[in-house]
This record gives sequence, structure tokens and C-alpha cells, in this order.
Amino acid sequence: MSEESTTVTLRPTRLNRLRNWLSLAGLVLAVSAFFAFVLLFSVDIFAAHANPYMGILAYVVAPMFLLAGLAMTLLGYILESRRIPQGQPELASSFVLHINLSRKRDRHLLVGFVGGSLGFFFLTALGSYQTYHMTETNSFCGEVCHTPMEPQFKAYEHSAHARVACVACHVGPGAGAYIRTKVSGMRQLYHTVLGDFKRPIQLHNVNQRPAQETCQSCHWSQKHTGDLQKTYKHFLSDETNTPFTVQMVLKVGGSDPVHGPVEGIHSHMNVSNKIEFIATDEARLNIPWVRVTDPNGKVTEYRIEGFKDDIAKHSIRTMDCMDCHNRPSHKYLTPNAAVDRSMAFGRIDPAIPWAKAKVVKALVQPYATREDANQQIASLLRADFPDDKRVDALIAETQAIYNINFFPEMKADWRTHPDHIGHKDTNGCFRCHDGKHLAVDGKSSIKGSDCNACHIIVAQGAGKELEKVAPKGMTFFHIDSENSDPSCAECHTGQTQE
Ligand code: HEC
Ligand code: HEC
Ligand code: HEC
Ligand code: HEC
Ligand code: HEC
Ligand code: HEC
Repeated sequence: MSEESTTVTLRPTRLNRLRNWLSLAGLVLAVSAFFAFVLLFSVDIFAAHANPYMGILAYVVAPMFLLAGLAMTLLGYILESRRIPQGQPELASSFVLHINLSRKRDRHLLVGFVGGSLGFFFLTALGSYQTYHMTETNSFCGEVCHTPMEPQFKAYEHSAHARVACVACHVGPGAGAYIRTKVSGMRQLYHTVLGDFKRPIQLHNVNQRPAQETCQSCHWSQKHTGDLQKTYKHFLSDETNTPFTVQMVLKVGGSDPVHGPVEGIHSHMNVSNKIEFIATDEARLNIPWVRVTDPNGKVTEYRIEGFKDDIAKHSIRTMDCMDCHNRPSHKYLTPNAAVDRSMAFGRIDPAIPWAKAKVVKALVQPYATREDANQQIASLLRADFPDDKRVDALIAETQAIYNINFFPEMKADWRTHPDHIGHKDTNGCFRCHDGKHLAVDGKSSIKGSDCNACHIIVAQGAGKELEKVAPKGMTFFHIDSENSDPSCAECHTGQTQE
């Protein structure tokens, strides 16, 4: 025993070759990385809202340091082995690190090493915790990979949810959500680095969290909203930019009998009834089959003519908030709506002849980049209004509209990301409420498909016309009254009609 303690060199095992500064530093690094991994992993599991970038930190960055540490250790080992004469492993002992605490130099080295390692440990913990917080912020989600997320971030900043964290909607709690976001976070990082991500980026609910876990953590699906009044201000694309306003009462209603009658638009909230459907495309624009289970358990199936498929071949989705509110936070206005809005606010002067038509036209030209767009918008409008003093303001506002609704680099705008609320510019509600989805009897269609089922128009038009109010509703007076085909989106595409 006493003999052993005087020879600091232990038995000449191969492990002794790890006793060099490089290997030791590598080991410290590896242990710290492992420690950081455990820390991040537990924060990730226990945090209320896990976040996708945690996956990158915990499962990519930390293991990278772990591997680097192990590589250093191995390198130290190999270098050390080289110094040992061939076939004389027992000599290794003479090359190992001798730490003799009675020597002052060794004591200092040891204290330095232990102190340094502890400091490194501490910094690792602090660093990973801070990084975790940083990845939770919206600017991280929205701005770090600047170009890919630009459209979503800009639209978000102008939405009702501008104060809601990205992670509140995109990352829900739960084991399944957890694994999926980790995997997709890593895949996204990989594609961002390579720059080969799809443009525009589409989610189409592939890894989107269900509404129960996201929207409904803040919004209460039992709420009875009742009627909401909304005013839609338009300007026609004629010489005088004729105003045309629609004032409507939207029957939003509610779906929980405890808090009000089950009625109106929010009657499909999965509280008292259940609505399921099949979509045959990713964007869920084509919905050939719908099934309703009412509070008494009565089931009704609706199909469009010609859809004879066995439903077992398709995946059936239960309708939730996001099947109507699919752009709660990233809404790209149609050029028509955006220009109407600027005119209603007076940011574009409706007294400028043809302003509506010309501005929309300037907005929808194909531009390669934002810079290109800004320049060409200016020259187009200058050519349209050569002697008008108001043209500078007009150009500035048109560019402002362009900058928050059009993203040429990412190929994203209202066409690639249609909003399902309503039915004017895309089919939206009319994906189901078009009167063409028939029950097995072949006659009855989905309830709520006539013009007064979802809203009543209480006033419309302009000037004196708009002052005539009908509390019980009036028929829609369409500019193009010859054409009363209800599929509005066949003509209305978000641009002006030529
Ligand atoms: C109020 C909830 C909500 C918030 C907050 C939110 N999003 Fe979204 N996001 C959605 C919904 C809903 C979709 C659309 C999914 C679909 O089309 O199926 C979406 C889609 C996306 C898409 C896919 C592309 C697209 O436009 O459809 C990206 C990327 C995205 N969001 C990023 C972000 C970022 C970055 C933030 C924070 C700056 C954020 N989101 C905040 C709800 C939200
Ligand atoms: C973290 C809480 C939170 C989450 C999650 C959330 N919302 Fe909201 N939402 C709000 C708040 C707060 C408002 C009111 C904002 C205001 O009017 O200032 C709001 C407003 C709304 C409005 C009405 C405002 C408007 O004009 O657009 C709708 C519709 C809406 N949310 C839908 C959704 C949907 C759909 C989701 C899920 C994709 C969702 N919300 C997720 C907090 C949240
Ligand atoms: C059938 C389509 C549909 C579904 C499903 C739906 N909504 Fe709505 N919701 C509407 C419409 C239409 C309005 C009226 C506002 C508008 O047109 O923008 C509205 C209005 C709202 C408002 C604004 C109410 C107010 O007081 O200002 C909120 C908040 C809202 N919905 C949240 C939700 C949430 C949360 C869910 C899921 C639990 C949901 N909605 C499901 C269509 C729907
Ligand atoms: C996926 C198909 C689908 C979509 C999309 C859809 N609905 Fe419905 N909606 C239904 C079904 C199914 C019913 C139940 C009708 C029945 O029982 O026959 C219903 C019922 C309604 C009712 C109640 C009708 C009544 O008299 O009981 C209203 C109002 C309504 N929807 C409005 C809307 C609005 C507004 C939108 C668009 C924002 C919309 N719906 C989008 C399928 C859909
Ligand atoms: C299934 C429900 C539903 C039915 C049926 C329906 N609408 Fe609508 N309609 C909506 C909703 C929801 C909006 C509001 C969209 C929004 O807030 O952006 C709307 C908006 C409108 C607007 C205002 C759009 C604008 O931008 O000015 C008009 C006009 C309109 N509807 C006319 C009609 C006519 C005409 C019919 C019958 C052919 C009809 N609607 C049938 C749900 C419906
Ligand atoms: C046959 C084509 C056609 C159909 C179908 C159609 N519209 Fe229009 N609509 C027009 C034209 C053309 C104008 C005039 C546009 C302009 O001058 O800018 C117009 C103007 C409007 C306007 C006022 C200006 C604007 O651009 O918003 C509203 C609101 C409107 N339509 C709503 C609807 C609704 C709701 C439906 C479905 C119920 C519908 N339209 C169906 C062709 C059509």
C-alpha cells in the first residue's frame, strides 16, 4: 500500500495515456457539454412552452461540443501513445502526468485546472440558459433567419397577435409536439444553411399544432360572441374611384348551450357538435366530403357530386379554429383590399383620377426583388401621373403597401397564402357552403348556405344610398348585378377587374 502511494504513477494501463493536458481539457469540455445537454433537455421537457430551437441547442450544439471534447481526448491519447516506445507499454508510466502535491508548481497547476474547469462549468450553464431564453424571443424566431421568415414576421407585426409569442401558436406542449418540433427544427436549420428551402414556405398544418393546444390556450371556445358589426369600405376601379361600402352584421354566435344559444358561425367549434372533412389538396381548398355529428349523435354525410371515393382512403380532419382563421397572424392583404384600406384612411387621395386601378396595377407586376419593385413602382406611377404634385406621396404609400404584403424573394403574397375567412377573393366558407355538398338523399345541402345564414347586410353603397339602413337585412346590391353567381372568387381574385 505504502509502496503504491509513493509511486504516483499507477499501474501501467493504457488509460494512463489519457493523463496529458490535451486529453484532460477534452474531458472537461465533454463533461461540460454533457452537463449542458442534461440542463437543456430538462428545461425543454419542463418548460411550459417548449421551443423548436431548443432542439438545435440540445441535440445539435451540445453534442457537437461533446464530440469535440471526446476528439480532443482521443487526440491527446494518440499523441501520448506515439511517445511510448513500441512494445513497451509498461514504460508508459514514465510518461504520464505526475502530479506531486508537494511541488509548488504542480499545486498551482492543479488549482488552476480545477478552478478553470469549475468556471467553465458555470459559464456553460449560464450560457446555455441565456441561449435558451434568447431562442424564446420573437426576434429570434422572426429575424435570425432573416429572409425565410420575413413575410411571416412582417405580417405578424401588423396583426392582432403582434404581442403573442411565435412559440405560443407554433409549439404546443405534449410529448408528440415535442418530438415533432425537435425534428423539424433541425431539418429547418439544415435547409436554411443550405438555402434550399421551398419558396414560399408553406405549413399547411404539416407540423402545425392543433387549435386545442394553441389558440384555445388563450381563446375560450365556449364563448358566445353573438353578432359582430363590420364595415367593408371599397373603391371601384373607375375614373372617380367611386366608393362602395358594405355594412354587415356577422352572426358569429356561439356553440355552447350553457353560455348562449348554439347558433351562427361559431356553431362549428366542436363543443356541441363535430364537423369533419376530407380535403384532396394540401392547402385544403378542395373539400369534397363533410360529416356532421350533432349533439344527439345523429350523423349526416355530405358529398359533392362525382366524389365516390371510399373515405377510408383519405385522412379525415376534425374542423377547428384554423380551418377558418388560417391567417390569424400572417395575413397578406390582397392588393385590392390594401389599396381600399389606404384610400379609406386617406393615405391615398381618392380624388386622384384612376388612382385605385393604377396603384393596384403597379403592385401586381412581377418583380424579382424588393429593390426592383420599389424602383419600378416609382417609375410606373410617375409615368401614369406625370404632372401630378401628389405623385410622390402616392409612390411612398404604394411602396409601403408593397413592403408589408408582398415578398418577391420568398415568392409569398395573398395568392400563395389565401385567407379562408369569408368567400369573396377565395372560396373560404364556400369550400363547404356552396350548396353543392349534398346529403345521401341527394337533395339537402349543408345548412347555412344562403346569403343571410352567416350575415345580414344592413347598409350598402355610398352617400345617400348608404344612409338607408335595413335592420333586418337587404339583398346584396352587386355592382355587376347581371352576374349573381354566388362563387364570387371566380371573378374576384384580389386584383381589380379588367
Ligand atoms: C396567433 C397564432 C400565431 C402566431 C403568434 C404566429 N403564427 Fe405563424 N402561423 C400561424 C398559423 C395559423 C399559420 C398557418 C398554417 C396554415 O396555413 O396551415 C402560420 C404559418 C406560419 C408559417 C408558414 C408559412 C405561412 O405563412 O403559412 C411560418 C414560417 C410562421 N407561421 C412563422 C411564424 C413566426 C416567425 C412567428 C413569430 C414572429 C409566428 N409565426 C407567429 C399562427 C401563428
Ligand atoms: C397567447 C394568447 C393567444 C393565442 C395563443 C392566440 N390568441 Fe387570438 N387573440 C389574443 C388576444 C390577446 C387578442 C386580442 C388582440 C387585440 O384585439 O388587441 C386576440 C384576437 C384574436 C382574434 C380577433 C382579432 C382579429 O381581428 O383578428 C381572432 C380571430 C383570434 N385571436 C384568433 C386566434 C386563433 C385562430 C389562434 C390560434 C391559431 C389564436 N387566436 C391564438 C390572444 C391569443
Ligand atoms: C366556421 C369558421 C370559424 C371557425 C371554425 C372559428 N371561427 Fe372565429 N370567427 C369566424 C368569423 C367569420 C368571425 C367574424 C370575424 C371576421 O369575419 O373576421 C369570427 C370571429 C372570431 C373572433 C373575434 C370575436 C370578437 O369578439 O371580436 C375570435 C376571437 C374568434 N373568432 C376566435 C375563434 C377561435 C378561438 C376558434 C376555435 C375555437 C374559432 N374562432 C373558430 C369564423 C370561425
Ligand atoms: C369544412 C366545411 C365547412 C367550412 C369550411 C365552413 N363550414 Fe360552416 N358548416 C359546416 C357544416 C357541415 C355545418 C353544419 C350544417 C348542418 O348541420 O347541416 C356548418 C354550419 C354553419 C352555420 C350554421 C348554419 C345553421 O343554420 O345551423 C354557419 C352560420 C356557418 N356554418 C358559417 C360558416 C362560415 C362563416 C364559414 C367560413 C368562415 C364556414 N361556415 C366554413 C361546414 C363548413
Ligand atoms: C357560410 C357563410 C356565408 C354565406 C353563406 C355567405 N357569406 Fe358573405 N361573408 C361571410 C363572411 C364570414 C364574410 C366576412 C369576411 C371577412 O370578414 O373578411 C362575408 C362577407 C361578405 C361580403 C363583404 C365582403 C367585402 O369584402 O366587402 C359580402 C358583400 C357578402 N359576404 C355577400 C354575400 C352574398 C351575396 C352571399 C350569398 C350569395 C353570401 N355573402 C353568403 C360568410 C358568408
Ligand atoms: C361575374 C363576375 C363577378 C362575380 C361572380 C362577383 N363579382 Fe363582385 N364585382 C365584380 C366587378 C367587375 C366589380 C367591380 C370592380 C371594380 O370596379 O373594382 C365587383 C365589385 C364588387 C364589390 C365592390 C368593389 C370591390 O372590388 O370590392 C364587392 C364588395 C363585390 N363585388 C362583392 C362580391 C361578392 C360578395 C360576390 C359573390 C356573392 C361577387 N362580388 C361576385 C364582378 C363579380
